[in-house]
Amino acid sequence: MLTVNEFDPYAQTQYQYFQREVGLLKKVSHPNIIHILDSGISDEAYPYLITDYIDGQSLKSIMKTQTLSLEKIDYILQEIAKALQAIHQQKIIHRDFKPQNILISQKQQPEIVKLVDFGIAKMLHGSEGESYLHTITSKGIITGTLQYMSPEHCQGNPLDERTDIYSMGITLYEMVSGHLPFDKASSLGIILMHVEASVPKLENIPKPIESVILRALEKLPENRFSSAIEFSQAFSDAVKEVKKIGTVVILGNGASADEETKDYLSDFTEAPTEEHKNPQKPFLETIKEKLKF
Ligand SMILES: Nc1ncnc2c1ncn2[C@@H]1O[C@H](COP(=O)(O)OP(=O)(O)O)[C@@H](O)[C@H]1O
Ligand SMILES: [Mg+2]
Repeated sequence: MLTVNEFDPYAQTQYQYFQREVGLLKKVSHPNIIHILDSGISDEAYPYLITDYIDGQSLKSIMKTQTLSLEKIDYILQEIAKALQAIHQQKIIHRDFKPQNILISQKQQPEIVKLVDFGIAKMLHGSEGESYLHTITSKGIITGTLQYMSPEHCQGNPLDERTDIYSMGITLYEMVSGHLPFDKASSLGIILMHVEASVPKLENIPKPIESVILRALEKLPENRFSSAIEFSQAFSDAVKEVKKIGTVVILGNGASADEETKDYLSDFTEAPTEEHKNPQKPFLETIKEKLKF
């Protein structure tokens, strides 16, 4: 539990994240983004945030218990693309885009899909939060959830909107297959796979769909889709093409999905060693050595 204690540097840092989340959310009003109603600090020094309530489940838990049809995956992807597009237009990057942060209420039709958790989101091109974040990254601290983190995020490189496109690609991979492309390794192993490993083949998934996923998961941001809407549109077109040729798609998702993904948020928080700072020895070389690759 976070309390605002002026003598506790950790609490101060967390409180700055909190303030940034409030500031960013106030800038965006969109049907696919959680709406902030009020915020403040209680008499007991607990910061609070009041948002509209989503009577539903996260996409992560839905994936674990339900088999998602291709049409349903397409619908969810279109909705989350609209949310990402809206924040990107405001020059905000989410940086922790993952199924745990997508809430879905299945009580209404069509289902309501909302993006939440802007705790580590960031304004691009200068804002109050900017210099603060710069301080964090210059100390080598990386925050995010490893299984969904882009190669550039894993390496602590500068980020733009396309980092969220990559995380959206991992989410789509998981929706169609029921498992993550890069998982089951140590934290450093997952980082290395994002940066260097090719994406594991999607069994039984038609080529047009696989190609869209692979493009979103390109290692270099410039080779990915340039916007969330371009990505979701390409996926819709692929789904239409697959239906036209009448391919039977056996999706691997459903009740067999992975057990709870370990949430690595803030887990990989590492101060740089002298080696990290040495340009002769890039970050990746250092972690490869640690892993004895
Ligand atoms: N507005 C909301 N309505 C319903 N449930 C919510 C809402 N906001 C968050 N939650 C639930 O709380 C969880 C944690 O909230 P989140 O904003 O993701 O914070 P964090 O992951 O940083 O703890 C979400 O995954 C979701 O299950
Ligand atoms: Mg969350």
